[in-house]
Amino acid sequence: MKIVRTRTEVRAEVAAARDRGKIVGLVPTMGAFHEGHLSLIRQARAESDLVVVSLFVNPTQFGPNEDLAAYPRDEARDARLAEESRADVLFAPPVDEVYPTGFATNIHVSGLTEVMCGASRGEHHFDGVATVVTKLFQIVAPDAAYFGQKDAQQVLVVRRVVRDLDMTVRIVACPIVREADGLAMSSRNVYLDADARQQATALNRALTAAEESVARGETRAGDVLDAARAVLAAAGIEPEYLDLRSPDDLHTLDRVESTALLAVAARVGSARLIDNRILEVH
Ligand code: PAJ
Repeated sequence: MKIVRTRTEVRAEVAAARDRGKIVGLVPTMGAFHEGHLSLIRQARAESDLVVVSLFVNPTQFGPNEDLAAYPRDEARDARLAEESRADVLFAPPVDEVYPTGFATNIHVSGLTEVMCGASRGEHHFDGVATVVTKLFQIVAPDAAYFGQKDAQQVLVVRRVVRDLDMTVRIVACPIVREADGLAMSSRNVYLDADARQQATALNRALTAAEESVARGETRAGDVLDAARAVLAAAGIEPEYLDLRSPDDLHTLDRVESTALLAVAARVGSARLIDNRILEVH
């Protein structure tokens, strides 16, 4: 696996592969790899000839009071794990390679970004994501890019950018990878002390309780949400949001009719955690 730091170098790698008719897959990340990230790399590996993993802790998607400075960083470990997962190129640029002096463009997606994490973290968050992902697509020009369903709203925002700006990259959403006790893997789980780590399992348990209520025939949003809220409350968690929304455009649902996105965000100990589940009525 090659480690490259400049746009020129990564473009040269991709151009050489393309000249030989190869399919290019991109996995955008901010590092601190866990099995969630590695599952994306493996899926890209299965479907592409050249797998590029980007590692860039994107400052523009962090708010002033968020964890940019504390965000876990260990490039040597990440490089080893990416190589073990058979990535070909690790693109790990410095900040000024992505945002040179005078950088002034912002990609803003309306609507989708005004709810859930967009409301609780502020609009800058998805502007930062949309802008950096657009840049990565321009730099790498992949055939496909791999994202985790763990960040369900991020997947929708990225799909909307691709559609609205006539990009040709194929967006692949990959399943949420969980710890044995159900906690969704996250780079931020390292912030959890033992008590908070235990408390954090309530997020997935709350989603399961809601899913079970739907399986028993409950369809009213209020009742489905109450089933989840009860589990969170029992664990002492007050969610930032707990929403039942359309998985296509995030409009709020009064009822679970065919498919619904149940999404939660909560502060647990010193971490802000998110999780979600697609609920289906058969
Ligand atoms: P990061 O949080 O590092 O996540 C990189 C990718 O891994 C994202 O697509 C995310 O959804 C996926 N991922 C994280 N945890 C996962 C899990 N438990 N199961 C499956 N996939 C998981 O998301 C970002 O970085 C950034 O916003 C980025 C897209 C790189 C733009 O800066």
